[in-house]
Amino acid sequence: MLQPVILLFVLGTCSAVENPGIEITVNNKGLQYGKHAGADWIQGILGNITLPFMDGRIRVGCFSSLYYTFTDTRIRKCDLPEPSVEFSPEAAGLNMSISGLSVALTGEWMASFSFLQSVGSFNMALFSVDVTSVVKLDRDNNGHLSVSSVSCEAHVENVDISLSGGASWVFQALMNRHKSQFKQNIEDGICPQVEKSIANLEHYLQVMNVSFDVDHTLAVNLSLTASPDINPSSLNVGLKGEFFSIQTHNDPPFEAQPFTVPVQGDYMFSVVLSEYTVNSALYGYYSAGLFNIFINDSMIPPDFPVHLNTSSMGPYIPQLPKALLGLQMNLQVNATSVPMVTFQPDWAKQSFHATAEAFAVQPNGTQTPLFQLRADSAFSGQSWIDAGKVKGNVSVDNFTLTLISSDVGPVNTKTLAKSTREGIEMILTRVNEALSRGLDLPRLKRAKFVNSVLKVEQGFVSFFSDAEVWPTDRGFNRPKHTHEFF
Ligand SMILES: *[C@@H]1O[C@H](CO)[C@@H](O)[C@H](O)[C@H]1NC(C)=O
Ligand SMILES: *[C@@H]1O[C@H](CO)[C@@H](O)[C@H](O)[C@H]1NC(C)=O
Ligand SMILES: *[C@@H]1O[C@H](CO)[C@@H](O)[C@H](O)[C@H]1NC(C)=O
Ligand SMILES: *[C@@H]1O[C@H](CO)[C@@H](O)[C@H](O)[C@H]1NC(C)=O
Ligand SMILES: *[C@@H]1O[C@H](CO)[C@@H](O)[C@H](O)[C@H]1NC(C)=O
Ligand SMILES: *[C@@H]1O[C@H](CO)[C@@H](O)[C@H](O)[C@H]1NC(C)=O
Ligand SMILES: *[C@@H]1O[C@H](CO)[C@@H](O)[C@H](O)[C@H]1NC(C)=O
Ligand SMILES: *[C@@H]1O[C@H](CO)[C@@H](O)[C@H](O)[C@H]1NC(C)=O
Ligand SMILES: *[C@@H]1O[C@H](CO)[C@@H](O)[C@H](O)[C@H]1NC(C)=O
Ligand SMILES: *[C@@H]1O[C@H](CO)[C@@H](O)[C@H](O)[C@H]1NC(C)=O
Repeated sequence: MLQPVILLFVLGTCSAVENPGIEITVNNKGLQYGKHAGADWIQGILGNITLPFMDGRIRVGCFSSLYYTFTDTRIRKCDLPEPSVEFSPEAAGLNMSISGLSVALTGEWMASFSFLQSVGSFNMALFSVDVTSVVKLDRDNNGHLSVSSVSCEAHVENVDISLSGGASWVFQALMNRHKSQFKQNIEDGICPQVEKSIANLEHYLQVMNVSFDVDHTLAVNLSLTASPDINPSSLNVGLKGEFFSIQTHNDPPFEAQPFTVPVQGDYMFSVVLSEYTVNSALYGYYSAGLFNIFINDSMIPPDFPVHLNTSSMGPYIPQLPKALLGLQMNLQVNATSVPMVTFQPDWAKQSFHATAEAFAVQPNGTQTPLFQLRADSAFSGQSWIDAGKVKGNVSVDNFTLTLISSDVGPVNTKTLAKSTREGIEMILTRVNEALSRGLDLPRLKRAKFVNSVLKVEQGFVSFFSDAEVWPTDRGFNRPKHTHEFF
């Protein structure tokens, strides 16, 4: 009676789902485009590969067999028809098939029959080859994508072989006479090779890293949070999407929240980035102290209204120019909390809370503490894609200063805040000029994004796009008709 209860409890705790920080969706349009580009790429490299060693046995009569081996087999010509690939919800994976493939091969043969042994070279043609392979996509215990073969079927309509060298005429005659056995051997050899390639891919995926260094400070964990979700029109993968400090490896003190990706138009794929992912990066930088900023006057634009020189501080700290005249000042601005970002429809908001400690630099280099302030600021921004460029604008919503302590008499925080805010707005005007010209979307080595849309939603940013792959040079010509093979 107790056992089912315990089992339920265990299952219940194990199935506590981890919300993804990043979600990637590939739609059927993307799958079909990817397949087309992939087929072109495969056609391009086919001319340059050596096929695996093939061997077989043909039973000749009741007691004797012909044993043969093909080595150094190359593809001479290949008529690669457009393959078909579709999402297969039943198999939780992909259903791939190719039909009507014809291929001309050339290589070396070695054969033995009774006391006769011989070697030579061969030409072989396979006509109307059909192969269907169904693979399952899954997540392994370490969060890797995992791929396994569910089923494979192969059919070869016809085989022609022509041997030369040695006692080729004997073996040629035997192979022709037992062609159906020979064809069966070839057919039986296809699926084990397909399954071996899938196993190789799986091995490659298992040893792949799921986290990557982004810079000297941060790495990102892209492990899968669940098995890919496959339905007839799309594949959806949730990734952890957590940035963490390479040094401390600490998880952020907040969790990914669930979100629902809106359905949007006819795009090849979409990438959704949650607040959690962005804030984990900000948390990583914050814990590494990257939001503790040292500022001196040479870092401030010349036309900024406030300057770090004791002589120009009169309007804000009346006693300062009297006490210390003409000294350079430094400011140590330290964030007091993670500058978290929130996404709301069409807007991103960020708040920044910090302490600012001011020092005067004495002629002998000694830093004399002057005063300490608390600075609270809030920014909001918008971002969109226009003509293939990321554009946007940022504005300051709030900027307040509060005095913590002063060694140089009263500080007029209101006027200091007003001037500083004007300076910040001046800098943002320049930033916005650059943002209105736009930034290029990242380019990949062999592809670019087209028809892209960026949308800020409640809790996440979504990027919908099509891709365009540069055409590759084909390795060799595709014959139009199978009679061109010989
Ligand atoms: C795979 O596709 C083929 C042809 O499109 C179909 O006959 C077969 O039932 C499919 N199998 C699965 C598991 O989806
Ligand atoms: C995986 O990450 C480790 C540590 O960062 C690195 O040494 C290794 O080269 C990476 N492996 C691959 C295949 O990128
Ligand atoms: C990435 O996240 C997964 C799931 O939370 C975890 O099991 C794995 O240890 C993490 N990897 C790294 C390098 O932090
Ligand atoms: C300001 O700081 C930078 C970097 O720390 C330094 O190179 C520069 O000389 C400093 N400028 C002044 C005027 O102290
Ligand atoms: C500070 O400002 C005064 C007056 O503008 C100037 O004479 C002085 O050279 C400045 N000091 C430094 C260190 O830049
Ligand atoms: C601000 O940060 C700097 C550099 O990390 C550190 O040396 C300093 O003690 C911090 N000041 C305050 C008030 O936290
Ligand atoms: C540097 O100059 C200041 C002010 O003139 C003085 O108070 C301080 O003792 C000096 N420091 C050193 C190390 O000479
Ligand atoms: C930012 O861009 C949006 C959309 O073009 C526009 O409506 C808004 O006025 C802009 N805000 C600023 C401060 O320029
Ligand atoms: C601006 O700051 C004040 C004082 O800190 C706060 O009361 C107000 O809510 C803030 N407004 C925004 C939009 O952040
Ligand atoms: C075939 O491979 C060789 C050596 O790896 C390389 O130099 C050549 O460019 C390749 N040819 C094609 C068509 O890929």
